[in-house]
This record gives sequence, C-alpha cells and structure tokens, in this order.
Amino acid sequence: MNLKDYLSAKKKIIDIELDKYMPKETEYPQIIHEAIRYSVFSGGKRLRPILVLASGGIFLQDERKLLPAACAIELIHNYSLVHDDLPAMDDDEYRRGRLTSHKKFGEDIAILAGDALLTVAFEILSEEVKDSKLALKIINLISKAIGTFGMIGGQVVDISWDKDKTELPELEFVCTHKTGALIAVSLRVGAVLSGASKAEEDALYEYGKLIGIAFQITDDILDEEQDGKKGFNYPAFLGVEESRRRANDLINKALAKLYIFDKRADILRQIAQFIAGRKE
Ligand code: IPE
Ligand code: IPE
Ligand code: MG
Ligand code: MG
Repeated sequence: MNLKDYLSAKKKIIDIELDKYMPKETEYPQIIHEAIRYSVFSGGKRLRPILVLASGGIFLQDERKLLPAACAIELIHNYSLVHDDLPAMDDDEYRRGRLTSHKKFGEDIAILAGDALLTVAFEILSEEVKDSKLALKIINLISKAIGTFGMIGGQVVDISWDKDKTELPELEFVCTHKTGALIAVSLRVGAVLSGASKAEEDALYEYGKLIGIAFQITDDILDEEQDGKKGFNYPAFLGVEESRRRANDLINKALAKLYIFDKRADILRQIAQFIAGRKE
C-alpha cells in the first residue's frame, strides 16, 4: 500500500472510533460536547494515532487492540492544541483553517473543552484497554510523556524562556518535549500493546523521538514559509536551509533505528520521509 492510501485508510478508521468515544452534541450540557467535537473533528492529520497503529502493526494483525490507545493519544493532542491556542498561550485565532475553540466558544468553554479531552483520554485508556496490566503500563507511559518532564515542560520553556538569550539547547528542549514526547510515546505504546520485545520497543521509541523533533522543525519552517509566522524556533535561529538540513539528518537517524525490522516497518520508513517533505 502506498503511504497516501495508508494514511487516509487509517485516518478513516480512527475517525470512526473517535466518533464512538465522543459524547453526542445533544447530550447535556450540550455546549461542552459541541466544543469537544468542534475541535476533534476539524481535519487533523491523525499522525499520532497512525503512529500507534503503524508501530503495533509491525507485530499485530488485529488493530482493535491498538485503537483505544491511539484515540486517547489523539484526544490528548487535541487538548494540547486547544490550550496552546488560548490568549494566555499563543493567542491564535485559527487552527486547521477555522476559528480556534476560544474564538468560537469563549475562553471559559475552551479551557474546559481542553480539560475534558484530557480527562476522557484516560477514561478510554482505563476502560477500553482490556488487559489491566497493559492499561496501567501505558497510562503510566502516557502520563509521563505529557507531564512536566514531557509535553507540559516543553510548553513551559516555550512560553517562558528569555528570547534574547536563546541557545540551541533550549530550542532542542522545546522540540523534544512539547512535540517529540507525545510522538515518541505513540510509537512506544503501539509496541507495548502488541507484545514487542524490549529491544524492539526501544528502537521504535528512539525512532519516535527523532521524527518528533524533525516534525516540529518542519512545522516551524511551514509556519514561517506559509503563514509568515516568526517564532523563536529553528528557522529563526539557524535559517530555513540549515533547519531543513537538520530535519533531514534527524530523519536519516530515525530510519537507521529501524534496521532491526524487516519490511513490516516500511510504512514507518515512509512516514519518516513524509515528515521531512511535508507541505501541511
Ligand atoms: C501541530 O500538530 C502542533 C504541533 C505539535 C507541531 P499537527 O500538525 O500534528 O496537527 P494536526 O492534528 O494535524 O492539526
Ligand atoms: C504546539 O506547538 C505544541 C503543543 C500544543 C504541545 P506550536 O505552538 O508550535 O504549534 P502550532 O504552530 O500552534 O500548531
Ligand atoms: Mg505553542
Ligand atoms: Mg501554537
């Protein structure tokens, strides 16, 4: 299967599952359910849940075991975006081509919608991952990845560093934490749920960390090239050309981590290449 078909087939499956997990807009109190659905069903690429499926897919045929965790991770990602766009954070008006949650529903509901998305993710993990030992393990891995030593830590440094004294290590910290941590744990969760060996899990996790940084660098290049948005990021610090070179270098390192796998990891190889060359 080529990558485009794979991505769109998996996105469809994930969207159907997400729909089952999301309360209907008609459920009281309607406004919060409307807000949650507004953000979740607004055309995200579903990269993180696809990575869970692609990672687990190396070892498992039946992806039903992977879908609840894949969806939970996508919901966590959506929570992080709703909060990231708030006036107190990046103060963005548009996300995925439409008004951000707080612009549409007000800040109060947007904050609660983010909280609700995070909460429901853990409800799904605790309820739908049927093997309770595995459920506990991945709840632990995911919590660590999104806490103050992971995604939140990255967001904190992103909004609070002294921009005049920015050095490359801070920039790396931001990329590995705010973005890389959730991407990396997606691969790890796929591996853990599908019975991978420790060496296989580690290889996938390392691959995830590398593509995660590359993903953020490419995101910043796109922000600058497509929206003219300048931030304290790789392109601002090193220029677009050098940033692209670094992203490609990270992708090559990520590909090298997959050497222990046969062609069943080809989809991950293609995803890595797609990240370096993506245009959206
Ligand atoms: C955007 O992530 C925010 C970052 C962490 C860089 P994505 O580009 O994966 O966002 P969606 O879900 O496809 O909109
Ligand atoms: C978002 O990073 C990272 C998280 C939400 C954790 P950015 O602020 O760089 O991403 P965009 O540009 O808003 O999508
Ligand atoms: Mg931000
Ligand atoms: Mg932002």
